[in-house]
Amino acid sequence: MGGQTDNDIIIELRQLSKRFGSLVVLDKLDLALQKGMTTVVIGESGTGKSVLLKHLVALLRPDGGEVYFHGRRIDNLGERELVDVRRRFGMLFQLGALFDSMTVEENVGFPLTEHSDYTPEEIKDIAAQKLKLVGLDGLQHRHPGEISGGQKKRVALARAIALNPEVVLYDEPTTGLDPVRSDVINELILKLKHELDVSSVVVTHDMTSAFKVGDRIVMLHHGKIIADGTPEFYKTSDDPRVRRFVDGKADARDLAALDDVEN
Ligand SMILES: Nc1ncnc2c1ncn2[C@@H]1O[C@H](COP(=O)(O)OP(=O)(O)O)[C@@H](O)[C@H]1O
Ligand SMILES: [Mg+2]
Repeated sequence: MGGQTDNDIIIELRQLSKRFGSLVVLDKLDLALQKGMTTVVIGESGTGKSVLLKHLVALLRPDGGEVYFHGRRIDNLGERELVDVRRRFGMLFQLGALFDSMTVEENVGFPLTEHSDYTPEEIKDIAAQKLKLVGLDGLQHRHPGEISGGQKKRVALARAIALNPEVVLYDEPTTGLDPVRSDVINELILKLKHELDVSSVVVTHDMTSAFKVGDRIVMLHHGKIIADGTPEFYKTSDDPRVRRFVDGKADARDLAALDDVEN
């Protein structure tokens, strides 16, 4: 490749559209993600953040537009060709639960057992190394039922990075965690960026997390990116849609909708 700069684009969405029946979720959305950066996607519940994330690895296919990874179009690839693409991603998805019947070590080693030629001994070593990275070395022989919710997320993260991905996708990584455990996850996202040199996309509605981990924050609203900037931009923006979301304040329309529900 050669001549890489901070501006290198790793993933690009061009005019991406996705609808479910009559519900338009993504509407000719354009977004280019830079290598080495952590891009945070914010937006209200049900606005299409998870749908957007799934398009990055072709878990969903667009109705219009294209997805490029390192300049190669991927949205139209077959499942077999996608195996090699997806292997370069680590995914920490909302429903990416651990296998309860497997130990922590087996869970972390699972992608390696499936997708690599490592020996069982090597897989144990790699699992130990990844668990150490997320601060859980020593829990190898526990089962998911024997560890806390925050620890489960960290095990899932260790599993997500087992194959040394170039890109890590996080879907609401701090949801359901208390502020201290959320901050542990935020610190890990920063650590993985610096130690493994990964590019990341973090979907969240947790602004504390967005401000802490984001190099760039994009806000999704009605199928499009309506704001795009640094955390500082969001702290000072006077766009009412941004303020309303970032400050978590209901406006007159929200209150009217509440009346509708109550009446
Ligand atoms: N597989 C699907 N089939 C039908 N509707 C879906 C599907 N996935 C998501 N949706 C709908 O698309 C919208 C966006 O969903 P989602 O991306 O999950 O929102 P969020 O921003 O909360 O992550 C929601 O209205 C959701 O119900
Ligand atoms: Mg979601």
